[in-house]
Amino acid sequence: SKRVAILLSGGGSNMRALVTSMTGEHPARPALVLSNRADAGGIAWAKAQGIATEVVDHRPHGSDRAAFEAEIDARLRPYAIDIICLAGFMRVLTAGFVTPWQGRMINIHPSLLPKYRGLHTHARALEAGDQEAGCTVHEVTAELDEGPILGQARVPVLATDTPDTLAERVLVQEHILYPAVLRRFAQGNRAPLYLP
Ligand code: GAR
Repeated sequence: SKRVAILLSGGGSNMRALVTSMTGEHPARPALVLSNRADAGGIAWAKAQGIATEVVDHRPHGSDRAAFEAEIDARLRPYAIDIICLAGFMRVLTAGFVTPWQGRMINIHPSLLPKYRGLHTHARALEAGDQEAGCTVHEVTAELDEGPILGQARVPVLATDTPDTLAERVLVQEHILYPAVLRRFAQGNRAPLYLP
């Protein structure tokens, strides 16, 4: 089966959803969880599950993204990774890293792309008066939050929403969408999945 590396920077709730989905007849297995932050909650959880973990701190590399990415690449290599899932990995990856992985690396983004690439997606959706919000899983290309869409899930925006309450509603859908898309992607199915 396909060997999956999950890259994260934080709590890793999407990573947990991905890991717990990869059981039984699933076409993929979690081979590695990698974080740029040693104190990421997701690292402790993955370790407790008996999953291999690696930490690559970006800070010693300063603004040298190529050096940071070369270190990630070196850490990935021994695990013979087939698919990379970015799951709340909050460092921009440049073409030097992305291009060799293109077609084998996917990301979840908390907006209905192509709307709201980048940060603060929920605040921006509220500010725009959007009636719906959601999340997108897409193939990673050298352009930030671009690349073929593999799936989207939508939620209503409520009049009482704050960025936090909206994020919470979207995150529930992220945990459904990302495992569903990964399963399809690992089987070679790149047709977009629209939920609900
Ligand atoms: C998720 O909402 C994910 O979509 C978002 O960060 C959160 C990570 O939560 N990703 C981005 O904003 C990527 N630029 P998690 O660590 O609990 O999965």
